[in-house]
Amino acid sequence: AAVPYAPAVVVGSGYGSAVAALRLGQAGVRTVVLEMGRLWDTPGPDGKVFPSTSAPDHRSMWFRTRTEAPLAQFLWLDVVNRDISPYPGVLDRVNFGGMSVYVGRGVGGGSLVNGGMAPTPRRSYFTEVFPGVDADEMYGTYYPRARAMLGVNDIDPAWFESTEWYRFARISRRHAHNTGLKTVFVPNVYDFGHMKREAAGTAPRSALAGEVIYGNNHGKKSVDKTYLAAAVGTGNVTIETMQRVVGVRPDPAGGYVLTVLTSDVTGKVTQVRELGCRQLFLGAGSLGTTEILLRARETGTLPALSDRVGLGWGPNGNVMTARANHLWDTVGAHQATMPALGIDDWDNAANPVFAEIAPLPMGLEHWISMYLAITRNPERGHFTYDAATDSARLNWRREQNTPAVNAAKNLFDRINRRNFTIYRYDLFGGNRAFADDFTYHPLGGCVLGEATDAYGRAKGYQGLYVVDGSLVPGSLGVNPFLTITALAERNMARILADPR
Ligand code: FDA
Repeated sequence: AAVPYAPAVVVGSGYGSAVAALRLGQAGVRTVVLEMGRLWDTPGPDGKVFPSTSAPDHRSMWFRTRTEAPLAQFLWLDVVNRDISPYPGVLDRVNFGGMSVYVGRGVGGGSLVNGGMAPTPRRSYFTEVFPGVDADEMYGTYYPRARAMLGVNDIDPAWFESTEWYRFARISRRHAHNTGLKTVFVPNVYDFGHMKREAAGTAPRSALAGEVIYGNNHGKKSVDKTYLAAAVGTGNVTIETMQRVVGVRPDPAGGYVLTVLTSDVTGKVTQVRELGCRQLFLGAGSLGTTEILLRARETGTLPALSDRVGLGWGPNGNVMTARANHLWDTVGAHQATMPALGIDDWDNAANPVFAEIAPLPMGLEHWISMYLAITRNPERGHFTYDAATDSARLNWRREQNTPAVNAAKNLFDRINRRNFTIYRYDLFGGNRAFADDFTYHPLGGCVLGEATDAYGRAKGYQGLYVVDGSLVPGSLGVNPFLTITALAERNMARILADPR
């Protein structure tokens, strides 16, 4: 029997995929998007689509019996995580030996669960990371295009200064300024106008109701509401959910044949099928795309793929830490979940750090200042194919994060010394001040210009493209989704003009 066929298939539905789907749809190419997670549009018994961080349920995590929040404890008590029933929930934590990677699952990928921060990297660092990419074009055309499409907006500075919801950020700012450090406002895809109305009591609360890592019910412009809605609106794009792509082989008649597993909400595979396509766009994220290509190369279905597939992975230098404030420096029981400010010391050549001032909305005064530091860690991991489990294994040793911890420690030691404050040791488990065992920013695995050509076209094959965070070689200096989006815009413009 003939294999069902679509001209173009896009795997995954995060940032890179969403750009690919829209631009293909606009070009008149009939496109099928295959997403392993569910569509988040139906309210549960509580009337909400997503659960809050303070009351997580089955919807919060991808097939777990207990939630695995980044903050393991509070005052050394295991009060943060909850027992839940297994379900295709929205946040996944993929645990490898030395590193755990948080990713979003569902239509919208990481855009469903992230903090919405959309900073643009320093141009000088961008050029260093992507020497083969025309920075004029990126900063002149593709970053502005990505910002407009994603709905990036800025907080009203007057409101920021006066609202109780950002008191936590103002305290951290004062301590940074006391230390001679610079802070910057960080643009976001959460609608700050909506947030103001939440505070005024005229709009339903989301960012002001503790919602973030398990999804936002209001205010957040995730890509299902922006790029993917526009893609479906072209009439050429359809999205299929609970579809996991596991295999890719060339079709002797041209194009590719995919092996796709359909699952139900219990995780049971209900169908194994094949789907043919002429063009294949991989946007399954750093972990997903790298696994698909590595498996294809190692099991011999796409043997001519580059030997660089699987290399160049990094956690964007992520390290989380927290400080204990003096009793008179209250951070407020009310905290918005969307970060709005960062400590920007990236120009410090000896110790570059960009630290997001992170909220810790617990509904009570806790005197904690939290940070997600992005550091410049030159260490890289790589993936190997494990035949026994038919999966990609990340090779990253815990010690490889030592440069990142040292950089974060250097910055926060200075802040603590100047403000006579100390670290908190009760939040991350194991009496640690620095959480260096997880990342929100998995980057690399199919690096641009190495595993692919300069536009994401996979080396060794025609009509096979990488469009997501796996193109970024392990480090970016800022939160990555704006750059992933802008790079996908750049690459799709070229691919549509010159498919190869
Ligand atoms: P992304 O991971 O978004 O999407 C991949 C999709 O493919 C997923 O939906 C997945 O389910 C699907 N998939 C995977 N394998 C598949 C398969 N085999 N078959 C079918 N589908 C498959 N960044 C930022 O810039 N600012 C921020 O504030 C934050 N904050 C933040 C918080 C948290 C909690 C997380 C987890 C992450 C962030 N990030 C962030 C990171 C950001 O979300 C991330 O960099 C992007 O989502 C990556 O986009 P991609 O397009 O690479 O893939």
